[in-house]
Order: sequence, then C-alpha cells, then structure tokens
Amino acid sequence: MPLTPVLSAHWDEADSYTLDGYRRHGGYDALALAFAKQPDDVIQLVKDSGLRGRGGAGFPTGMKWGFVPQGDGKPHYLVVNADESEPGACKDVPLMLANPHSLVEGVVIASYAIRANHAFIYIRGEVPHAIRRVASAVREAYAAGLLGQNILGSGFDLEVTVHAGAGAYICGEETALLDSLEGFRGQPRLKPPFPAVAGLYASPTVVNNVETIASVPSIVTNGADWYTSYGSEKSPGVKLFAVSGHVERPGIFEAPMGTTMRELLEWAGGMRKGHRLKFWVPGGSSVPLLTEEHLDVPYTYEDIAAAGSMLGTGTPMVFDETTSVTRAVTRWLEFYKHESCGKCTPCREGTYWLVDLLRRLESGVGSDDDITRINEVSAQIAGRSFCALGDAAATPFPGAMKYFADEIALGTHTAASDLYDPVAATVLAGVNA
Ligand SMILES: Cc1cc2nc3c(=O)[nH]c(=O)nc-3n(C[C@H](O)[C@H](O)[C@H](O)COP(=O)(O)O)c2cc1C
Ligand code: SF4
Repeated sequence: MPLTPVLSAHWDEADSYTLDGYRRHGGYDALALAFAKQPDDVIQLVKDSGLRGRGGAGFPTGMKWGFVPQGDGKPHYLVVNADESEPGACKDVPLMLANPHSLVEGVVIASYAIRANHAFIYIRGEVPHAIRRVASAVREAYAAGLLGQNILGSGFDLEVTVHAGAGAYICGEETALLDSLEGFRGQPRLKPPFPAVAGLYASPTVVNNVETIASVPSIVTNGADWYTSYGSEKSPGVKLFAVSGHVERPGIFEAPMGTTMRELLEWAGGMRKGHRLKFWVPGGSSVPLLTEEHLDVPYTYEDIAAAGSMLGTGTPMVFDETTSVTRAVTRWLEFYKHESCGKCTPCREGTYWLVDLLRRLESGVGSDDDITRINEVSAQIAGRSFCALGDAAATPFPGAMKYFADEIALGTHTAASDLYDPVAATVLAGVNA
C-alpha cells in the first residue's frame, strides 16, 4: 500500500501553516464548491463518502450531521474536539501545527452544512503552540473574508471561537467538553439527549474530531467516489497513522485505511536496532493490545475489531522486548485513575483499586488473588460506568492477560499471606460482593 498524503501533503513546506501556503495548493477552493451546493447536499456528500469520525469511536460523520434538526428555530453549533489527550494519540496537534487552515476550512463547510453560525474549537490547554497556530489561522481567515459576515458573498455568516481547555482528559469526552465550554466543571452528561439534539447551551450541536473536520475539504473537492476508492466498504478513505514507541523513526504516516501495521512499521524504519516487537496497541491506551501475529491485519474498524481490539484513534504504540507488560498496564491505569472525573463509583473507586493491585504485581509482591481481583474489578467497571473512560480503564489488563498471562504471573509472590492487608481485603470484598 503506498503512502497517500492528503492532509499532510505539504507539511514539509516552511509556510504550510499560513493562509498563503494553504492557498498555493488550492486551499479554500472547496469552500466555494460547498457554497454552490445546498447544505443538505453537502451532508449527503459526506454521507456518501462514508467518512467516519477520527476521534476514536468511528461514528459516521454525515449521519451525525443529519441528526441536527432543521427549522427548529434554535441556534446550532459546531464544536471541534481538539482535546487530544489519549496516551499514544498524536495526530491532531501536529495537524493543527502544520495545516490549521484545513481545519478552519472544514469548520466553515461543516457549519454551513448543519446551519451553524457559531463554531468553537476546544483545544487541549497544554499545547499553547497549537492554540497559537489555530488562533492565528482564524485571524488570517477573518482578515481574508473567509470567516465573519457574508463569507465569499454567500450570505452565510460564521463566528469562530478558539477555546483553551484547562488540561483534563475527561474534557475530550464530548459532553464533558460541552460542560467545560459552558464554564462548568468538565464532567460527562447523561445521554440521551445526544448533543445533536441538546448540546451546547441546550441547542443542537455537532461535536467532531480535528482530523474528521479537516478531512472534509478534500472530500468536497475530490468527491465521494475518490474517498471511497481508498480503504474498505465499511472503513473508507485515508487516515493519519501516528506511530510511536520503540521504532527507528516514530512519526505520522498518512495512508489508506486497510494499511497494515507491518507496512507502518516498515515506514517507521522497523524496530529500533537489535530489538524485536513484543506488543503494539492500535489506537491509544484505551484499546486492547495486539502482538506480532496481528501485523498483517488491515487497519480497518472491522478487521481490527475481528482481531480482538479497536482501531480507536489509529495511533499505534509499539513496544519491544525490553518492556514489562505489567509496568505498561500499570502506567496506563495510573493515567485513568488520575483522570477519572469521580462522577461515578465504578470508575472512581475501581481505578484506585486497579492501580493499587497492579503496583503490587509490578513490584513482584502480588499474589494470584491479586490477578483474580484485577480481573473482577475490571469486569465491574466495564459497562457499569457513566462514560467510556471507565470502559477504557477496564480494557488494558484483560487484554494483556490474553497474551502475557505467564509474564504477569511473574509479579506474584508465593507467600501471599505475608502481604495480607486486612483493610484492603475488607474493602475489596465489598467491591466484589
Ligand atoms: C475519556 C474520553 C476522552 C476523549 N477524548 C477525545 C479527544 O481528545 N478528541 C476527540 O476527538 N474525541 C475524544 N473522545 C471521543 C468524543 O467523545 C467524541 O466521540 C468525538 O469527539 C466525536 O468526534 P468524531 O465523530 O469526529 O470522532 C473522547 C472520549 C472519551 C470517553
Ligand atoms: S466513568 Fe470515570 S470519567 Fe466517566 S463519569 Fe464515571 S468517574 Fe467520570
């Protein structure tokens, strides 16, 4: 499979992030093409392209836009989720740094399609350089008449607000993001109602990932058939794959869906010298790990799922034989424990217990009972939490056990009674009751 740079086609040019640099390669031409269509036709085009949300869940984008009620007399909003905080995910921030105008152009087209006159770009607060880049692109677009009143004489008005988050992974969850944007503590809302019906300020709102929205101009320019000529029927198009970890050349490779991890590894220069692959995680820490036997699985939503994992953000983390799988899982759980918003009990308490138990295994003083308990606590978090952060926290350990049970068992200690902690045992008995 060849590399197919679309979003990343001109990232190596010194001024790729400026309006001039973007326009030199046809930037904002898609906007005029979109304005020549009715908003519903733009939605239909995106539906026909089969574009699926790049924020992790892979929800069909055109269908989401189609859920926004029309003629309801309420303001509509587009919110771009630029909170990218998942361990291993590193595609949206580089995109905003190198090509922010593809996002801004996508924002105008998407807002036109859903009849929104105000869009927000919610950017993770820890990346001020990306915030500055996007804010500067928005300023350039206003000055060029590409934002504001009567854009390109179309009669369409759009205000864009760039908002910096305060640094919380949970604010990437779309409803927590909306609460945060409204000035409340970022905690997930009960769904339904879904944002498309009652989102920002209780009005119809589309929340989309940065890569999703930035993909829209190329679809408008080249057509749905062009997009579906890549990938599979259920997973069309091209995607930014961000490869990190123990490879020679970590980086972002834009390629068709259906590319394999073996190809991505090749582009990344292979494993670092003298080392071999132990495991890889296809889409951020929230999805189960895979091993060498899965290197030829096509990177599509359906094939990665059939292999027992999830495509997620499509940002594989690669680990060689020097990595302790117990240590890697413990670090991920420490992250989820730290980022748990505390709203619901299974996640708030469960992540606390998982870290406690995993640390015992990591330091080699765990017991077989600890492994049983970790599995039980994971099972009690999964499907019983208020939002998907809980499910994500329940995923890494059972996923690792599938392939590395023997190694994980090395962290157990035969004389478990030496470690008996009556307080922990009582609480755990309650958790497992
Ligand atoms: C804990 C948590 C964190 C998330 N973080 C992000 C994020 O940083 N960026 C993102 O686009 N989606 C994130 N999501 C997914 C969003 O809730 C939502 O599905 C996504 O923004 C929808 O956009 P899409 O349809 O374009 O994928 C997160 C979900 C959860 C549960
Ligand atoms: S699952 Fe975790 S992050 Fe989500 S609402 Fe519950 S406590 Fe908060």
